[in-house]
Amino acid sequence: MLIKIRTPRHPRENEVTPKELYLSRRRFLAGSAGLALGTTLGARLGLTPGVARAAAMANPLAGAIAQAPKGGPAISEPVTSKGDATSYNNFYEFGSGKGDPEERSGDFHPLPWTLTIDGEVEKPLTLGFEDLVPADALEERIYRLRCVEAWSMVIPWTGFSLSRLIERAKPLSSAKYVAFETVVRPEEMPGQRTGLLDWPYREGLRMDEAMHPLTLMAVGMYGDPLPNQNGAPIRLVVPWKYGFKSIKSVVRISLVKEEPPTTWNMTNAREYGFYSNVNPQVDHPRWSQAKERRIGDFLRRDTLMFNGYEEEVAGLYTGMDLRKFY
Ligand code: MTE
Repeated sequence: MLIKIRTPRHPRENEVTPKELYLSRRRFLAGSAGLALGTTLGARLGLTPGVARAAAMANPLAGAIAQAPKGGPAISEPVTSKGDATSYNNFYEFGSGKGDPEERSGDFHPLPWTLTIDGEVEKPLTLGFEDLVPADALEERIYRLRCVEAWSMVIPWTGFSLSRLIERAKPLSSAKYVAFETVVRPEEMPGQRTGLLDWPYREGLRMDEAMHPLTLMAVGMYGDPLPNQNGAPIRLVVPWKYGFKSIKSVVRISLVKEEPPTTWNMTNAREYGFYSNVNPQVDHPRWSQAKERRIGDFLRRDTLMFNGYEEEVAGLYTGMDLRKFY
């Protein structure tokens, strides 16, 4: 018997419902659902489920996030609306649809949270959420984030350089790569009750990429704690790589000797390499990466080498064949 196995994959941009159509459908559905669920707190407040959860959650860093000073490279492009950045997401733990993370993350309770740093370190650490963030290191950085599906956003994140966290565990010289894992809580994450991906979601960086000052651990966006759908309470943001490298809701960071397995590479190695640097000259096997659509814009724009961070990060890849190490 021939069994056809459907490999999970990123849709290409023209397979995704156009953002404007998708949002107008959602507004209609939200209106109907609001009438039907008139007794819930979220509906009474006029909030969607993800936002209701964020409002109910007492995040000990909320004040510090709201007051974080500005940092990071200057960016002249307009910031994407908060509504768009929190309603059009990829977070397969809540489903593969763009609206699933917002609509289906209401049962996720990010706090309390612990994050473990282990592996090739002198001092393995398990830290509670409030102890993770060096008080003097929180800042707001506006980064471009470009998805492999050829859409992009510009988002003000609040966070701190990952290097600050790694240094606290005292890395050994044998540490060559960094492996990241997302929390596994199938009872709170409906996508994890399916075989959509091999859980936990995993990502990896080379040690020098992880220690680069642009590599951010984010705990907030738009001056507020991260909403569930964007990776509460703490996620990675690597602005020169395709969005899937920016792993959400991180519980473990392991320093390792060998290149670690990563979710999308395990799922489809031909389409997703370990490096996944934004590169307009190296196409995805099923579509071009030369252009992208900024969410909110009508026309496409040229994709920039390393997503516009060439000056800062090109030196990490000197002498490497970026077609081979895609
Ligand atoms: N992290 C986890 N744990 N699970 C995921 O499915 N999706 C990735 C990445 N991080 C994903 C994840 C992909 S494909 C993208 S494009 C970005 O998150 C999207 O981040 P955003 O929703 O905040 O824009």
